[in-house]
Amino acid sequence: MSFNNLDTLYRQVIMDHYKNPRNKGVLEDGSLTVNLNNPTCGDRIHLTMKVEDGKVIDAKFEGEGCSISLSSASMMTQAIKGKKIEEAIKLSKIFSNMMQGKEYDEDLDLGDIEALQGVSKFPSRIKCATLAWKAMEKGLMEQEQNK
Ligand code: FES
Repeated sequence: MSFNNLDTLYRQVIMDHYKNPRNKGVLEDGSLTVNLNNPTCGDRIHLTMKVEDGKVIDAKFEGEGCSISLSSASMMTQAIKGKKIEEAIKLSKIFSNMMQGKEYDEDLDLGDIEALQGVSKFPSRIKCATLAWKAMEKGLMEQEQNK
């Protein structure tokens, strides 16, 4: 596939998550709650996660933001469901490396998340893409520390 076709495909994946967000909403009682702002634009994410036996069994998000931030939140919630806490945090580190243009294990099947790799070429948008991931990491790290 040529780069242009790949770009088009990635753009379509991003727009699909933006227009049809997965896991939009708020989980009721018993959930981990994180509110985080993007300091550069003031947009925010409200993330709720349900963790049982060290596993993320559900996650939902709400918020305001651009297509990059909201599609990234949709992909993130999809990716962490069913993952152990340490696996979800590891995925966040991999995503952060991807956004900084650093090396990551490219053999990993990241699914739709790969569509965001082009964001690394636009430094001003990296905080948009990582907002939901930072919120997830913050919530799960706090959960681990409070055990
Ligand atoms: Fe605010 Fe992207 S411009 S999150």
